[in-house]
Amino acid sequence: MVNSSIIPAFSFLSLLPLLLLFLEVSSSFTPTDHHLINCGSSAPSTIDADHRKFFGDESSLPHSVRLSASQTIPLTDLEFKLSGDVSPLYNSVRIFRKPSKYTFRVKEKGAHLVRLHFHRFDSSNFDLSDAQFHVLADGYLLLNEFSGLTMKSLEIREYILWVDSDKLELSFKPLKKFNFGFVNAIEVISAPRDLILDSAQFVDSNGVIKIDGISRSAFETMFRVNVGGAKVTPFNDSLWRTWTTDDGYLESDHGSKEAHFGGKIKYQLGGASREVAPDNVYNSARVVSASSSGVAKEYLTWGFPIVDGYKYLVRTHFCDIASPVLGSLYFNVYVNGDMSIENLDLSTITNSLASPYYADFVVNGENGVITVSIGHSKGSSSSGVDALLNGIEVFKMSNSMNSLDGMVSAKSILRRCRGGNSSFLVLVVAAVGLLVAASVVLRKRLMAASDSVAWSPLPVDISEVSLKSTYL
Ligand SMILES: *[C@@H]1O[C@H](CO)[C@@H](O)[C@H](O)[C@H]1NC(C)=O
Repeated sequence: MVNSSIIPAFSFLSLLPLLLLFLEVSSSFTPTDHHLINCGSSAPSTIDADHRKFFGDESSLPHSVRLSASQTIPLTDLEFKLSGDVSPLYNSVRIFRKPSKYTFRVKEKGAHLVRLHFHRFDSSNFDLSDAQFHVLADGYLLLNEFSGLTMKSLEIREYILWVDSDKLELSFKPLKKFNFGFVNAIEVISAPRDLILDSAQFVDSNGVIKIDGISRSAFETMFRVNVGGAKVTPFNDSLWRTWTTDDGYLESDHGSKEAHFGGKIKYQLGGASREVAPDNVYNSARVVSASSSGVAKEYLTWGFPIVDGYKYLVRTHFCDIASPVLGSLYFNVYVNGDMSIENLDLSTITNSLASPYYADFVVNGENGVITVSIGHSKGSSSSGVDALLNGIEVFKMSNSMNSLDGMVSAKSILRRCRGGNSSFLVLVVAAVGLLVAASVVLRKRLMAASDSVAWSPLPVDISEVSLKSTYL
């Protein structure tokens, strides 16, 4: 299970603390591709709560990003109040009434983090809860029939996508002719090479086997949890991730305690890097001590609700911040109740306390939940700390249709958007014709009635309608 070839590297490095220090300092991560876009904003740039600079796409889109679209509408939230809780990114939005796309230049092929920010605000012209749209990235379907009505008022979706060319295309397609899509902000950031490894351990009731080639699937981040610690905001994460507390996910708790560590986390070559998880994740943990142990096979279990029918990548983060000496902590790790690491011995892997390590597992999504458990092993000592865990991440993996949202392919959605249903089109055109006639009559009457009548929402609809009728 544990890769033995990394052990000599660790002992070699432990003889050279100065070199290690040098490696740590010089390894601060700067992404090659780093596109931050504040959609619908005419301000040249906006600084968010984490001191990041997002460029407005209405006037000052950088050369490395292109927006190709007909009928997009930048919209500003006039009611927007700058409270501490709402990022200034969310007072503007871009509306897509036709299929539209952003193209991001990619200098470094490989995994990229893509974050989409959706904030459903109230606007007099558009009810964002009426939005219904698809979002595609290159050949992957990220969101299928995404609806403003069912989304939370603020949703930030995070994906990890492998980009094999010099650009990444992010497309927004309204579900039907009269629907629209929207987005408030977009982040495209090249990921460090060690963020997603190509192999992992596939776990089910038959046991554990190594699988390869996983880095080319698309991933959606479902859960990212700092076990036993406080919420970590993007400000304290070198990839601007958010880590929530584990409070809502802890299922069974046989007298666990939180552990906190004030010393330095020893990131080492071959172990987890600071980009895999920041100090604030590794300097807190939940531990079970032997004195509180019962007879249960599993001491501590976390549960995460999931949609069945996909594979999931489960990443478990460990850093022994609780043992008094090396060689005193041994425990088992279970995913979905199946033994995933027997007798995990962090001391032998890292040859040091407070040195981070992580293990990746792939499981089939079944029964609507993924569980992670840690428990007593045959090597567990009868005193001291018995088991420990610092963090958990759960990523959904794209299915055989290259989709993260249903058994639909990006191709079939593109085809649908292009072709359309012709008999439906005839009906729509007829209805539009009637509307035009009605609105012309109405307008004449209104104008005759009073010159001072405000008719602000009408012009948009009229131009849209007359466009269609000339098409006829
Ligand atoms: C960043 O982490 C430090 C140390 O844990 C903490 O004191 C600080 O409040 C955090 N800052 C933010 C913005 O979360």
